[in-house]
Order: sequence, then C-alpha cells, then structure tokens
Amino acid sequence: MTETERPAAAVLAEAAEAAGYAPSVHNTQPWRWRVAGDILDLHAVRERQLRVADPEGRLLTISCGTALHHALVALATEGWSAEVTPLPDPADADHLARVRLTGRVGVTPEAMRLFQAVRLRHTDRRPVSETPAGEEALAAVERAVRAEGVQSHLLTGDQILELAAAASHADQVETEDEEQVTELAYWIGGDRPEGAGIPDAVIPSRAPETTVPGRDFVRAGTLTVGPGHDRAARYAVIYGPGDEPADWLRAGAAVSAGWLVATEHGVTVLPFSSVVELPTTRRQLREMISNVGYPYLVLRLGTADPETAGPPHTPRLPAAQTIEVVRE
Ligand SMILES: Cc1cc2nc3c(=O)[nH]c(=O)nc-3n(C[C@H](O)[C@H](O)[C@H](O)COP(=O)(O)O)c2cc1C
Repeated sequence: MTETERPAAAVLAEAAEAAGYAPSVHNTQPWRWRVAGDILDLHAVRERQLRVADPEGRLLTISCGTALHHALVALATEGWSAEVTPLPDPADADHLARVRLTGRVGVTPEAMRLFQAVRLRHTDRRPVSETPAGEEALAAVERAVRAEGVQSHLLTGDQILELAAAASHADQVETEDEEQVTELAYWIGGDRPEGAGIPDAVIPSRAPETTVPGRDFVRAGTLTVGPGHDRAARYAVIYGPGDEPADWLRAGAAVSAGWLVATEHGVTVLPFSSVVELPTTRRQLREMISNVGYPYLVLRLGTADPETAGPPHTPRLPAAQTIEVVRE
C-alpha cells in the first residue's frame, strides 16, 4: 500500500455503498455487506424476501446479484481487481458471495462510463417512445449479459403477444390472491418501510396502453403517463443453464451489466418478474426459449418518451443499515 492509497476496508465499504443503488425486486434491497480487511462478504437478508411472491428466493438472489455487480463496477473505477467466490460457505446458504481484493489494475474509460450509469440508471414504467432502441445498443446489452455467463433472447412479434397473455394472466392470479396483495401493499405506495419499496411517484397514474401490461401494483401512482404504447419496445428473456442460487446470482450480475450498458446507450429498461414468479407462466417463458435454459427475468428495452418528465430516483436504505465494517 502506498502512502496515498486508502486502506482496503475503506475502498470495499465505499463499493458496498455504491451497490446500494442497484435495482432490486420491489426495491427490497435484500442484502447486507460485511467488510473485514480486504474481504467483502455479501449476505441475503431473508426478512426482506417476498415470502409469498418469491418463496424460493430466486428474485431475492437475482437482486443480490445486481448489487454484487454494482460493487465490482465501483471497485474497477477505484483501480482494484477482485476475486469473487459465490456461495463460499456450504453451511450458510445466505452467505451469497465473498469478494477479495487481488491487486491494482488500470482504470479503463469503460469502467468509468459504467460507474456513471450506476447513478443514472432507474426503472421507467412509462410506455416507451416510437423510436426503438438501436440494433447496436441492443447488441451491446446482449454482449454485457453474455459476459456474465447468462443468455438473452429477444422475443419475436408472436412471442411478444404470448408474453402479453402470460403477463396479464400472472397479474390476474397475483392480484386475486389475498396474501400476494397484502405482501405487495407492504412494499408499495405511501405507507412502506422507510428507505425501501416503491413510492407512488414512480408508479403510473393510469395503466399505460401497452400490449404487454406492466405489473399491476393494485394502486394508481402519480407518475404522468403520455399517450405512448410499446409498439417499438423489444423484450428480452434473460435465461441460463441452471435454476439454483449460484445461477440466480449470476443472472443478477447479468441484469445489472445489461442495464448499465443500456443506460449508457440511452436505452430504458423495465423488468417483468411476475411471469417468472408464477410456475405456469415461467414454463411458458421456457417454451419461448425452446426449453434450452431457465428464465430468470424479462426486460423491456426501448427509448424514453421525451415529452413527459421521467420518474424520480427511488429511496435507498441508509448505508449504516446494510453495511457492517469490522474493525481489525
Ligand atoms: C429481480 C427484479 C425484478 C423486478 N421486477 C419488476 C417488475 O415486475 N415490475 C416493475 O415495475 N419493476 C420491477 N423491478 C424494478 C424494481 O422495482 C426497481 O429496481 C426498484 O424499485 C428500484 O428502483 P430503481 O430501479 O428505479 O432504482 C424489478 C427489479 C429486479 C432487480
């Protein structure tokens, strides 16, 4: 360590703080970080798991994977390389990953651009504009997903109609289920856990007129929705070869990587997870990818409507609640 270099623990704590900006299902932020020397441990927080919608913890683990990837992006901008061990403790399934600093590397412009995207990225539930995402941007997003060992399949026109039917079915099943609605109400709208959940300001004030319906949050928000549709939207199924926690962690890293690259290219992203939550619609998604893997999430890709104001950033939990630094 040179005189001007900061201690590893400070660098790791800062990376964990940047990871707080990561997207998570219903903004649950189901992660806890522990910093000790040059080691950063990522743990799942089961109290913030959607026990009804996500009993297996698939979406929880995908969410933790996005945070892990955000932390690595932050480390790369500080000029650190790191080694990641997924699920390092066979006796503790909630210990999702161990990150160890391995040395100094040069900071690339690409790393800087990705880090800038961390602060810009957000979920936009408005309809997309008539200008589709460019082919080059879509290819860059796919490359970023694949670099994490995960696949992306862009749906054809007919498959988008199938997705629309599946999304509408999943929403109907979930909104007719009292336990689902109670769980949703806990995380969504005005009365939700402080620093977490989805505020009214990012929920459309009326259901957008799209072929594929966005998630029904069972309440109208205050986000202004223009007359747009989703005619120009593309939909990607993010999938991979396995359906176990290590696969979900990788899926989360891929979602984060793809979303940050999309942001860099001016492409907006809206995840659809209700179709993954319900076993029947998850099977339908599997058929859309010819049963060659397991679907983790669907992403809508498009460009934002320039006429209406975009949604604000959602709040985050204070770092003190998600990061523990062990003094040595
Ligand atoms: C695994 C996962 C699933 C998600 N599912 C949905 C969804 O079904 N519908 C939706 O509107 N947003 C969905 N989101 C977006 C989150 O609600 C969003 O990331 C969170 O509220 C934080 O807001 P931000 O992305 O603007 O920072 C999902 C995000 C993740 C990571």
